[in-house]
Amino acid sequence: MANYDVIVIGSGPGGYVCAIRCAQLGLKTACVEGRETLGGTCLNVGCIPSKALLHATHQLHEAEHNFAKMGLKGKSPSVDWKQMLSYKNEVVEGNTKGIEFLFKKNKIDWLKGWGEIPEAGKVKVGDETHSAKNIVIATGSETSSLPGVEIDEKVVVSSTGALELSKVPKKMCVIGAGVIGLELGSVYARLGSEVTVIEYLDAVTPGMDAEVQKTFQRILKKQGLTFIMGAAVQSVEALKTKAKVNYKLRKDDSEATLDADTVLVATGRKPYTDGLGLEKLGVELSKRGQVQTDDHWQTSVKGVYAIGDAIDGPMLAHKAEDEGMAVAEVLAGKHGHVNYGVIPGVIYTHPEVASVGQTEEEIKEEGRAYKAGKFMFMGNGRAKANFAADGFVKILADKETDRILGAHIIGPMAGDLIHEVCVAMEFGASAQDLALTCHAHPTYSEAVREAALACGDGPIHS
Ligand code: NAI
Repeated sequence: MANYDVIVIGSGPGGYVCAIRCAQLGLKTACVEGRETLGGTCLNVGCIPSKALLHATHQLHEAEHNFAKMGLKGKSPSVDWKQMLSYKNEVVEGNTKGIEFLFKKNKIDWLKGWGEIPEAGKVKVGDETHSAKNIVIATGSETSSLPGVEIDEKVVVSSTGALELSKVPKKMCVIGAGVIGLELGSVYARLGSEVTVIEYLDAVTPGMDAEVQKTFQRILKKQGLTFIMGAAVQSVEALKTKAKVNYKLRKDDSEATLDADTVLVATGRKPYTDGLGLEKLGVELSKRGQVQTDDHWQTSVKGVYAIGDAIDGPMLAHKAEDEGMAVAEVLAGKHGHVNYGVIPGVIYTHPEVASVGQTEEEIKEEGRAYKAGKFMFMGNGRAKANFAADGFVKILADKETDRILGAHIIGPMAGDLIHEVCVAMEFGASAQDLALTCHAHPTYSEAVREAALACGDGPIHS
């Protein structure tokens, strides 16, 4: 059997990026993947297909709501759901084939099948056992359901099933107002479904800046989503084509039921390490099933590393990618590093929501003196022209040093805008550094500069 320097198990954004970087650094690399296509959850049934549906339905929204205002008249488009799904599938295919091409280009062997680690330095795939100096576990995560809720991927679906529904449901119940629930809830609301989101907490998107949470929920309500907050789903009774969702309100323990044609369970994800043989191997796991690693992503077993959703930290493709690159550097004898303080989070609804660094609540809790510079997109010329003036940019900076501590954006292209703040934070920049940087006019990015100006002598356009 071939001997490898590195075998990466899993070809999601963590695994395939790790494999490519290992190969680029001169290591003989293989990647194990049991799916028919490379790319893991993200490319096959996660980030990429959901973005295709968000894009398509956003175009529909524009046609229905804004075209006539711009003098574009005529019948608004009707939805051919099958065609929309095949567009989404083509997008997925293009992306997964792209990774296959990159593997060939970088001479990475794709070991097809599900991997198991019988001992350090060995990976078993099907009947074959391969040896490697180092092994990287990049097996990602899977939907974590609730007790009393059985996912059949037809009536009661996870995010995977929600990307393949046979038709657009009349009534959809989304359990959990996290990232998945709100992105996919938005898709179906735009397609005409009556979407009700049931959330255990009193605010949407746990962990986000509270001001963003409030604005976000208000905008989504305006877009037609209904929210039942402070409600714990107890069980779901699924019939052939319908379901009953039973929930309990936390404030008074009263119980109620909601009928729906489709129920989307979006209550979080858990690490996926089934079948790897970690227990026998002696790899330590946390109580939540995450693989435990040291500062260099090495597990309790020498030569076995782990990255991405399978370990601690935010379950984000780009966090996994960064860890993948860093591990590759470590394995090649270089200095891999991930700055966990500057990992952006983005929700691809419309408007988008993006954040990096600390929230205002976290800074307050720390007792640190800070400044908050805020600028509403209402004062941004480009946003007004494009019917995208809902939302704001908020930059948080240390009161004395002016160093940027965090940024929170809800508004057009927030997911792209956040990155100038990420770069600034990587350089330890002050809000004034951003404010003194020339920003092209007219762009949405001027709102970021204005928020930075708001940390100093004040913005110009408000
Ligand atoms: P999440 O952790 O973001 O949200 C789950 C929500 O479900 C929470 O608000 C929680 O309070 C609620 N919940 C839990 N039990 C409940 C119950 N019994 N009744 C009512 N509500 C309940 O999880 P989500 O949205 O499933 O996403 C999973 C992971 O995938 C997250 O880590 C997320 O960051 C990641 N992801 C990221 C995306 C992005 O970056 N754009 C897109 C999709 C997923």
